[in-house]
Amino acid sequence: MTAEYKVHGSVAVITMANPPVNGLGLATRQGIVDGLGRANADAAVTSIVITGAGGAFSGGADIKEFGTDKSLQEPNLLSVIAAIENSAKPVVAAMHSVAMGGGLELALGCHYRIAAPGCSIALPEVKLGLIPGAGGTQRLPRVIGVEAALNLIVSGEPVKSEMIAGVPGQKLFDKMAASAESLAAEALAFAQSVADARPLPLVRNLPCKHPEGDAYFQFARNMVKGMAKNFPAPAKCVDAVEAATKKKFAEGMLVEREIFINLMWTPESRALRHLFMAERAASKIPDVASDTPKRDIKLVGVIGAGTMGGGISMNFLNAGIPVKILEMKQEALDRGVATIKKNYEAQVKKGKLKQDKYEQRMALLSTTLSYDDLKDCDLIIEAVFEEMGVKEAVFKQLDAVAKPGAILASNTSTLDVDKIAAFTKRPQDVVGMHFFSPANVMKLLEVVRGKETAKDVLATVMAIGKKIKKTSVVSGVCDGFIGNRMIEQYSRQAGFLLDEGCTPQQVDKAIEKFGFAMGPFRMGDLAGNDIGWAIRKRRAVERADMKYSRTADKLCELGRFGQKTGAGWYDYQAGKRDAIPSDLVNKMIEDHRKELGITPRKISDEEIVQRLVFALVNEGAHILEDGIASKSGDIDMVYLTGYGFPIHRGGPMHYASEVGLFNVVQAMDRFAKNPLDDAAFWKPAPLLAKLAAEGKAFQ
Ligand code: NAI
Repeated sequence: MTAEYKVHGSVAVITMANPPVNGLGLATRQGIVDGLGRANADAAVTSIVITGAGGAFSGGADIKEFGTDKSLQEPNLLSVIAAIENSAKPVVAAMHSVAMGGGLELALGCHYRIAAPGCSIALPEVKLGLIPGAGGTQRLPRVIGVEAALNLIVSGEPVKSEMIAGVPGQKLFDKMAASAESLAAEALAFAQSVADARPLPLVRNLPCKHPEGDAYFQFARNMVKGMAKNFPAPAKCVDAVEAATKKKFAEGMLVEREIFINLMWTPESRALRHLFMAERAASKIPDVASDTPKRDIKLVGVIGAGTMGGGISMNFLNAGIPVKILEMKQEALDRGVATIKKNYEAQVKKGKLKQDKYEQRMALLSTTLSYDDLKDCDLIIEAVFEEMGVKEAVFKQLDAVAKPGAILASNTSTLDVDKIAAFTKRPQDVVGMHFFSPANVMKLLEVVRGKETAKDVLATVMAIGKKIKKTSVVSGVCDGFIGNRMIEQYSRQAGFLLDEGCTPQQVDKAIEKFGFAMGPFRMGDLAGNDIGWAIRKRRAVERADMKYSRTADKLCELGRFGQKTGAGWYDYQAGKRDAIPSDLVNKMIEDHRKELGITPRKISDEEIVQRLVFALVNEGAHILEDGIASKSGDIDMVYLTGYGFPIHRGGPMHYASEVGLFNVVQAMDRFAKNPLDDAAFWKPAPLLAKLAAEGKAFQ
C-alpha cells in the first residue's frame, strides 16, 4: 500500500504512504489517481484532502525509480496533477514536514493548500542538473511572485512554510495550520468549508508577470552566470520562468518539458545524478546489513594533537561529542589546544560561529598525558607520527587500557592496518579512519577495513562518519588505500609530462581547465613535495623496477618543498599563496631533459588531461579488481570529495564510462607506445579491458 484512502464524514483523505519521504513512485501515483476516482464516484464525498504519512508530505520523485523507465510510466506525475486539476470536487493539499520537488508540484496542482509551520518547501531539481519537470517553473511564480520563485528554483534550497506565509500577497498557502499536530483536523475543516466553492480555483489561471520584464531576466541571467560555472541548468531555470511570464500556461509547460528533457541528456546532469546515487550507495557495505547493531559512542579519545589530531577532534566537538586528547608532553597539548581555539576564534570573527557555541564546544574538550585516562573512551583515534614503531607502542598501550568493546582507530595514511591491528589482542576492534587535511574541513573519510575488523565496528564508524558530516567510503587495506594509491599514478604521469616537454604551469593549467580545483604541481606545493619524496624513496627499495621521473627528486634536493618553504614548483611571495612560475625550476627541468638526451615536444592539453585522468582510471580499475573498493561509485566519491575532481564530470570512473571505455583503452594503447612513458602501467587493468571489449561501463 503506498497511498491509503479513507473517508472522514464528507471528506475523502488520500494519504501518500511510501517511506521514508513518500516518494512519488508508480504505485503511489496510481494510488492517488485511484483515490481521486473513488472520491469523485462517491456521492457522500464532497471534498478531498491529499496528505503524506510519517515525516513528509512528499519529497518528490522516488529515487528507487532513478535510471528506470518506471518514472515515465502512466500515470506519470503530469497525469496525476491533471487528474487533481480535473477533479470535480475540491482537492486540498495538507502539507507538513517536507514538500519538495514533485511533492510541491503536486500540491501546486491542488485547488487549495493548507500547511503546517516548519514545512520545508523546495524545488531542488537544479541540484541534479535539471529544472522542475511537472509545472514547478510555471506554477510557483504564479503564487509567490517571479523573483521569489526564481530564487527558490535556481538555488534548490528549502524555505520554511511560515517564511512564505508571511509574504504579503502570497497565494501558495490558503491557510496556515496552527501546528503540525492540528494540521489533520484543520485540513478536514477547511476541506468542508470549500466543499461548495465553484468554480474551483486553479494556479494555472493566475496571472504571471514581472514589472520590469526583459530587464529583470537580463539581470537574473547575469547573476546565475557567475554562480553556475560548468552547469547549464541554472540558466535554463531563468528561461523556463521567463516563459511563464511571456507565454500562455500550456505553452509555458511545453517550454519547461523541452528544457527538462534536454537537460536529462547533458553530461552535467548525468554526473550530478551519479553523484547523488553514489553518495547514498557509499554508506552501504555489501556484506554488512544496514540494521547491524551499532556500538554507542559517547566519548572519543584522540592520540596526538598535531596537524591531524586537532582537526579530527574538532569534528567531534562540532557534533557535540566530548573529546579527550592525549599527547606525550604538556607543551604539545597546549600547542594543539591553542590551534583548535585559534580555528574556532577565526570562525567567530567571520560570524560563522556564535560565541556561546564556541564556548560549548571548547567545554567538551579535555586533555591528558596518561593512557589511563582513556579507559572510558568508546572510540580512540590515533594520529601520531607515521612510523610503525610509534604506532606499535601506542596500540599496545591502548590494548592494555581501553575498555572492552572500545573501537581503536588509526589515521595512518600509508601503513598496514592489519599489522597495526596485530599489535593488539583485539584486531576485530581495530579499523582505519583516514581523514584528509585539514580534517575539520575536508569531507572525505576513508574507512579502512582490516581483514579482522568486525562488522559492527564498520557499521558504527560509518554511522559516526555521518554524524560528523563526512562522506565515508570503505577501503580495503593496501598501500595508499583508494585515493593515494591512485594519485601516485597521476603524479607519475605529471612527472613524465615534464620530462617530455611540458612546464608545471602548462600541466596545471590544462587540468584546471578540465575542472580540477588544482593541478598536480600547485597541489604538491600546497601539501608539501617532501611527502611524495619520502614515498618515492620507499618505492625505490620496494619496487626498484617502477619507472618514474627524477625531476621531483631534484626539486626536493634544492629544498623546494612548496609553500611551507616559500618555494616549490613555483615561487611564492612571503605570506601569499599565489603560484608564480619559476625560471629556476623551468631551467632545472630543461637541464634534466638535456641530461637524458630528450628533445622536448609540444604536448596538447588534451593529451595532458587524458594521461592524468586515465592514469587514475586504470589504477581505479585495479582497485576494483583487487576488492579494495566494492563499487566504482565509491572511487568517484573519494575523488570528488577528497581530491578536487570536477563535480560536473562525476568522478574519474564515471567520466571514463562517459568517454567510453573502448576509447579509454585505445588512448592507453597509444600512450604505451611512448618510449618515455611506462608501457607496463598502460596495460589496461583486466577489468577495464573486459568491460571495454564488452561495450560496458563501470558499475
Ligand atoms: P604531526 O607531526 O603534525 O602530529 C603528530 C603528533 O603526535 C605530534 O603532536 C606528536 O607530539 C604526537 N605524538 C607522537 N608520538 C606520540 C605518542 N607516542 N603518544 C602521543 N602523542 C604522540 O603529524 P600529522 O600530520 O598530524 O600526522 C599524524 C598521522 O596522520 C600520521 O599517521 C599521518 O600519516 C596521518 N595523516 C596525515 C595527513 C596530513 O596531511 N598531515 C593526512 C592524513 C593522515
